[in-house]
Amino acid sequence: MGVISCWILQVVLVLQLQVLVVLSQNIIRGSVPVGESLTASESSSWLSPSGDFAFGFRKIQPNDGFTLSIWFDKIPDKTIVWYAQTVNTTTGLVPEGSKVTLTADRGLVLTDPGGQQLWSSSLPQTRSSVSRGLITDAGNLRLLSEDSDVALWSSFANPTDTLLPSQSIEVRGNLSSRLKETSFQKGRFRLRLGDDGDLQLLTLNSETLAETDVYFSYYSSNTKDPHNPGNRLVFNETGYMYVVMNDNTTRFYVNNKDPVPSKDFYHRAVLHFDGVFSQYYHPKRQGVNNSDNGWSLAWSEPENICAKRFGPYLDANELGNLACGFNNICILGDNNRPRCECPKRFLLVDPDDEYGDCKPDFEMQICGRESNQTAAADQDANLYEFVTLRMTNWPSGDYKRYSNYDEERCKATCLKDCFCGAVVLGKDKLCWKKKFPLSYGIRDTNGESDTFIKVLKLGSRS
Ligand SMILES: *[C@@H]1O[C@H](CO)[C@@H](O)[C@H](O)[C@H]1NC(C)=O
Ligand SMILES: *[C@@H]1O[C@H](CO)[C@@H](O)[C@H](O)[C@H]1NC(C)=O
Ligand SMILES: *[C@@H]1O[C@H](CO)[C@@H](O)[C@H](O)[C@H]1NC(C)=O
Ligand SMILES: *[C@@H]1O[C@H](CO)[C@@H](O)[C@H](O)[C@H]1NC(C)=O
Ligand SMILES: *[C@@H]1O[C@H](CO)[C@@H](O)[C@H](O)[C@H]1NC(C)=O
Ligand SMILES: *[C@@H]1O[C@H](CO)[C@@H](O)[C@H](O)[C@H]1NC(C)=O
Repeated sequence: MGVISCWILQVVLVLQLQVLVVLSQNIIRGSVPVGESLTASESSSWLSPSGDFAFGFRKIQPNDGFTLSIWFDKIPDKTIVWYAQTVNTTTGLVPEGSKVTLTADRGLVLTDPGGQQLWSSSLPQTRSSVSRGLITDAGNLRLLSEDSDVALWSSFANPTDTLLPSQSIEVRGNLSSRLKETSFQKGRFRLRLGDDGDLQLLTLNSETLAETDVYFSYYSSNTKDPHNPGNRLVFNETGYMYVVMNDNTTRFYVNNKDPVPSKDFYHRAVLHFDGVFSQYYHPKRQGVNNSDNGWSLAWSEPENICAKRFGPYLDANELGNLACGFNNICILGDNNRPRCECPKRFLLVDPDDEYGDCKPDFEMQICGRESNQTAAADQDANLYEFVTLRMTNWPSGDYKRYSNYDEERCKATCLKDCFCGAVVLGKDKLCWKKKFPLSYGIRDTNGESDTFIKVLKLGSRS
């Protein structure tokens, strides 16, 4: 008995080993035949030959959905560099059990567990069909035709929020930010190489997100010379980024500093959901002290998005906002990334979106309730008080200015004025009256302005 059960155990072990071997042989590296598919589950992916990049489904916390994406597979972060921009899903995520299939006629097709199509690679209207997919060690997923090595579709030609070395953007091409860090819908920022050859960072109407509702640009490469316009934004193999002009000369985009060697470091450039466009590098191997330092910032544009408002690239209007919503204060944090903070007595409109708008926790003052304005003003003087925000400025939305005012007079004039939402006391004793909603709020330890927001006294009812 003992000998037989031992023998059975051995057979089972051998069989299990064989199953393991068969499974590992099925792992796709590089070339993907038509008909292959992946299903959204804990881990399912195809790899590039070196294993640096993977294509497949990644589970996104905390939403518990999956995104069909390409990511750096050898680093702990598994940083995503491309994702399918699906329709009809609020977060851009797809449910467990969704499936992507490589087809000959439509390329990649992503369907939900019910078979409903959520996304597909849009192929050109040609007669050639896809023969295979290829995941390159540069992180590009290419769908190749039968008759040639021409890519009918590639992830590099259809970028989302990230550029990788050897990827470029042609005229009319753009990157779009995500809605949030974990929400893969399109957000409101674009990096676009325009028809005129100028490379710009743009912000759109945050509500409609219509590509035609461009509010303004907050960066320009100034490469729209009609005699020699910019043709292409290049992120080259060694990690330099520049605009190639019509005459093939290059204009450096942001940095002239030498990037760290691409032999030892990964590079990526990403348009973050908060509007900051940044280039990062990451060691390919773990440090000698077994410390993984993660991504380090090479440069960002802008360097201080909180302070971005006035400038040569901004249209005269004061539409919208940048990183932080209306009535929200922008504070520059690590790696040139912004944080946002509602003023005291204000709450986030969407509690899950700290970058969104802030609303007052009180009823705002409305002019014209009383026929006797003098009486109303006297009454309001007892109803309202101020929230003080030191080193905080709101450089837009002014409607009146007073010179040589101190804090007391500045507040007093706001209190007497039913239009006044807040006052900013700047340097040289200038007092500025502001309308609501406040926009482009910035807190800065070097700031020379203080803000006083008029709020209803607690316990009062207007
Ligand atoms: C998305 O929703 C719209 C409107 O409900 C519908 O017309 C369209 O077919 C849907 N698309 C997909 C791919 O499900
Ligand atoms: C960005 O590119 C997409 C896809 O080509 C296009 O539909 C959209 O209009 C572009 N957006 C801008 C602001 O140019
Ligand atoms: C990338 O651009 C830099 C600067 O122009 C150049 O020195 C370098 O050789 C380029 N790298 C490649 C691989 O073309
Ligand atoms: C720019 O380079 C391309 C590709 O190398 C070449 O075909 C083209 O003639 C060049 N243009 C000029 C103006 O040198
Ligand atoms: C490793 O750790 C030692 C001691 O803490 C430090 O001096 C050295 O700079 C570290 N090396 C690297 C590459 O981080
Ligand atoms: C308006 O109110 C003020 C202060 O309460 C009072 O002195 C004044 O007589 C009032 N005027 C009218 C027209 O009622």
